[in-house]
Parts: sequence; C-alpha cells; structure tokens
Amino acid sequence: MRRFDGRVALVTGAARGIGRAIAARLVDEGAAVALADLDADAVVASASELAAAGGEALPMVCDVTDRVAVAATVAAVVARHGRLDVLVNNVGVSAATPFEDIDEAAWQDQVGPTLHGAVSCIQAALPHLLASPAGGCVVSIGSVNGLAAFGDVVYSSAKAGLVSLNQNLATLYSRRELQRQGSSSRGVRFNLVAPGTVRTAAWTRSGPDGLATLDRLAGRYPAGRVGEPEDIAAAVAFLASDDASWITGVVLPVDGGALTGPLSLGNWAE
Ligand SMILES: NC(=O)c1ccc[n+]([C@@H]2O[C@H](COP(=O)([O-])OP(=O)(O)OC[C@H]3O[C@@H](n4cnc5c(N)ncnc54)[C@H](O)[C@@H]3O)[C@@H](O)[C@H]2O)c1
Repeated sequence: MRRFDGRVALVTGAARGIGRAIAARLVDEGAAVALADLDADAVVASASELAAAGGEALPMVCDVTDRVAVAATVAAVVARHGRLDVLVNNVGVSAATPFEDIDEAAWQDQVGPTLHGAVSCIQAALPHLLASPAGGCVVSIGSVNGLAAFGDVVYSSAKAGLVSLNQNLATLYSRRELQRQGSSSRGVRFNLVAPGTVRTAAWTRSGPDGLATLDRLAGRYPAGRVGEPEDIAAAVAFLASDDASWITGVVLPVDGGALTGPLSLGNWAE
C-alpha cells in the first residue's frame, strides 16, 4: 500500500521545476494528480510523461490569478475523480524589483500569483478538502525569503504572507474547530515548506549568469550544495501524507542549513 493510493491531489505550477517534481512524487506514491499551470504545452507534456510511466496525471491549463479558472479547474478535478484530498500551492513569481522601483504593477505581478493565487486555490478547494474521508491537506511552497532577509522585497513579503495564512487556516479549519461547530469533517491540515536555493529553470533560464549564481551559492550552503526539486518534493509528500497526521500549521525549511544562523554564511573566524 502506497501512501497516496486512492487519494487525489492538485499541484499548481506543475509544468516544470519544483511543482513537476512534487506531482511526480505524489503520482509515484499512488495519487491521481492534476497538474495545473498556465503554460499549456509544458503542462500537457509533463502530465503525459507521468502518465506514460504508468501514473494517473491530468493536465489542467490554469492561471491561478484567474479565480474563475481556478474554480473551474477544481470543479473539473472533482468531476473526474470524485474527490480532492491534497492541494499543493506551488506557484510563486519573483522579479527581484529594487525597493525604490516597487509600484502597483510589481505588487500585482508578484503578490498576485504568489499569495492571492494561493488564497483563490484554497477557497476553491476547501469544500472538497473538508469532505475528504482521509482528512484534507494543503501544503504551500514558501521560501527562506519569507523567513529572513535575503532581499527581493515584494516576493519575500508575499512568501511571508503565506506563513501567516498557513497558521491562521490551520486553526480555522482544524478538526477541533469544525467539531465545535457541529461538523463531522476531519478538518484540513495546512503546512508550508520553505525552500532555499533550488536548481530549477527559474535560475537556469537566465543563462550562464543564473548557472554561475547557482554554483556560487552552492558553496555557501552548509549542506555543500543547492537543492534539487526532488528534495522539496520529498518534504511535501511527507507533510501531505498520514505520516504527518499530527502536524499542522508548521513551516518546514528545506534549505540545506541556510537558516541555521550566522555560521551558515561560513566560518567568521577565518
Ligand atoms: N527555485 C528556487 O530556488 C526556489 C527557492 C525558494 C522557493 N521557491 C518556490 O518554489 C516554487 C516553484 O519554483 P520553481 O523554481 O520550480 O519555479 P519555475 O519558474 O521553474 O516554475 C514555476 C511554474 O509555475 C508556472 N506559473 C507561473 N505563474 C503561474 C500562474 N499565475 N498560474 C499557474 N502557473 C503559473 C510556470 O509556468 C512554471 O511552470 C515557487 O513558489 C518558488 O517561489 C523556489
């Protein structure tokens, strides 16, 4: 028996990178997974690859900033599979806008998909997660940027917002709270994974500069390397599984030790 046999998951931003790795891991562990992304060609290709390997993977073209599209996506997943047990909010957009240049558009372009998009997805999924016989579960992908000062103010603020959202919803939709209201729902667990630097197209698409940055950063991590998408997928699968049934409202850094403290930057005595 695999951990997600019989369960249905929706992963946003799943065409590539961390989202794709999460979808692949959940499929591998038995889930039927809907991969949602605004890049139609890439999400169809990713879902086809997972299905060709024997998994159940459904591509959904969806922009998480479009509430109507999000509602339609969730409805389509439930129509197809009859339930939704796990939502992974993985979309995040960063433009590294310098603080003095931040304007309305910068907030909208980055906070829109990163924070508001997650809210829309949770709102659309919530009735189904509450009805999940297994107990519903939301895992959001934050960042070390939401926990400490690494620059990139707009993106970091959106990621910090996800932390508060995670804590508040973990109590609002907890089993205890729902039982208090007379509901028989098992409640929904909300957890957040905060990655450090992960080798994805978000870095490599900027060409040699991005690759050089990854190489430079690798040496700063106590773990001696940057992360791979599979490192994040493993943590998400744990938090979404019954192995984490007594874990809700937490932030799990998966960061190669970046947040351990001042020594994470290297030996200051040298
Ligand atoms: N790569 C890193 O170093 C790193 C570090 C910390 C946190 N994260 C977070 O991990 C998550 C995934 O990052 P990644 O590096 O895999 O990103 P990526 O850019 O490689 O992939 C992101 C995917 O999201 C999709 N997407 C973007 N906007 C969307 C929208 N509005 N609606 C639907 N899909 C949309 C893109 O088409 C793409 O397929 C993000 O939340 C990111 O902030 C990444």
